[in-house]
Amino acid sequence: MPKKKAWSGRFAEPVDEQVKRFTASVDFDRRLAKYDIEGSLAHARMLAARGILPRRDLAAIQRGLARIGREIASGTFEWSLDAEDVHLNIERRLTALVGDAGKRLHTARSRNDQVATDLRLWLRAEIDAVLKLIVALERALLAQAGRHAGLVMPGFTHLQVAQPVTFGHHLLAYVEMLERDRQRLKQIRSRTNRLPLGAAALAGTSFRIDRARVARELGFEGLCENSLDAVSDRDFAVEFCAAAALAMVHLSRFAEELVLWASPRFGFVRLPDRYCTGSSIMPQKKNPDVAELVRGKSARVIGSAVALLVLMKGQPLAYNKDNQEDKEPLFDAVDTLKDSLAVFAGMVAGLEPVPRAMRAAVLEGHATATDLADYLVRKGVPFRDAHEVVARAVREAERVGRDLAALPLATLQRFSAKIGPDAKAVLTPEGSIAARNHAGGTAPVRVRAAVARARKRLT
Ligand code: ARG
Repeated sequence: MPKKKAWSGRFAEPVDEQVKRFTASVDFDRRLAKYDIEGSLAHARMLAARGILPRRDLAAIQRGLARIGREIASGTFEWSLDAEDVHLNIERRLTALVGDAGKRLHTARSRNDQVATDLRLWLRAEIDAVLKLIVALERALLAQAGRHAGLVMPGFTHLQVAQPVTFGHHLLAYVEMLERDRQRLKQIRSRTNRLPLGAAALAGTSFRIDRARVARELGFEGLCENSLDAVSDRDFAVEFCAAAALAMVHLSRFAEELVLWASPRFGFVRLPDRYCTGSSIMPQKKNPDVAELVRGKSARVIGSAVALLVLMKGQPLAYNKDNQEDKEPLFDAVDTLKDSLAVFAGMVAGLEPVPRAMRAAVLEGHATATDLADYLVRKGVPFRDAHEVVARAVREAERVGRDLAALPLATLQRFSAKIGPDAKAVLTPEGSIAARNHAGGTAPVRVRAAVARARKRLT
C-alpha cells in the first residue's frame, strides 16, 4: 500500500494513479532539494527563536535534515512519486526519522511560499554561476582582441564588405554585448533575492513570525512585501529567461559568424579541431558543430522565456498549480546558457584568425571608398559631392575589374582634380583603420585601450 498523502484527510478515495503521475513534480523539482533544506532550517530556527517550535524539536529537525542532505548527496535518498514533490518527499523522510518534530516543521508555512523560496535561492546561485561563465568568456575574447588589435579584416553591413575594421575591434563588440548581459543578470539577481517565506499559502500566517530574521539567515536582500505577490508571481524567472534568451542571441550571432568565417568561402578563421566534428560519409569535412549547436540552442532558451510568459498570463492571484510548470523551462534555460557559455569560451580561446584571407577580402570590396570621400571633404568638397565623385570612381574600378584602391592615381584624378598623391595612403586598409582614432573607433590604439578598459571592468 502506498503511503497516505500529506493532505489526504479531506478525501474519500485515494488519488487516481494517472493523476498522481500527472500532478507529481518530484522528478524535476528534486533539483531544489539543497535549497529546500536550507529554507526549512532557517524557518525552523526562526520558529524556535519565537517560541513557536520547542527547542527539542528544532534540534531533531536539524539532525534529521542534515541526514537527509547527506542521503540526497550520496544518492541513497528514496524519492517517491507518492509524495508528489521535493517538499513533501523531504518532509515525509524527516518525519520518518524524527517523528512529531518533523510534522511541526510546516507550522506557519505553505508549500506555496516554500517553493517560491526554493526557486529564488536556486536561481540566485545559478545566476552567480552564469556571471562567472560570462566573465570567463569575456576574458577569452579580450585575450584574442588584445592579440589581434591591429589585424585588418573587412567589416560588413548587409553582409557586403563595408569598411576595414580590426579583428580585435570586431571581437570587442561581443564583449560589450556580454557585459550588458552581465549587468542585466546582476540586476535580476537583486530582484530575485527577496524572501517569500511568511506569505504561507497566500494571506500570511497567524503566528508571530520573524521574516527579517529568515531573510537575513538565507542571505536575501529583502522581503517580498505582499503575501499574495510572494507566492504567485514568477517574474524573476521570466526576466531571467528573457535575459538568458538575449545572451543566447548574442552567442548565436557570433556563432553564425564563426560558421561563415570557418567556411572556405571566407576562410577568415580556423576553429580548433577539438571543437569540430567530422562527417560519417565525407572524409574531408570539418564541421563547426559547436557553433551551429549554440545557434540552435538559442531557440530553446527563447522558448523558455515565451513559455514562462504564457504560463503567467492567465493566472488569477494567488498561487495556481500552473506555477509548477515554471521549473522545467527555467532549469533548461539555465543549463543551456551555462553549457553554451562554457563551450564558447573554450572555442574562442582556440580561434586562429587567417590574416591573409581577411586581407584579401578587404582588398576586394572597395572597402576604403568612404576614406577617399572623407579625404575630399578635407579638401573642401561637400560630403554629398565627394560621395558622388567616389561612387563614379568605384564604377570605373568595377568596369576594369580592380579594387578602388588599386586604380592608378591618374585614373582617380579623372574624377576630381582635388585628388593628390597623398590620397593613396588614405586608400590603404591600414590608413583607414588608423584614421578612426576616437572613442569607440577601430584604430588599433583605441582597440588596445578598449581591451584594457574592459579588463578593468571585470576585476
Ligand atoms: N510542486 C508545487 C510547485 O512546484 C509546490 C507547491 C504546491 N502547492 C500546492 N498548493 N499544491 O509549484
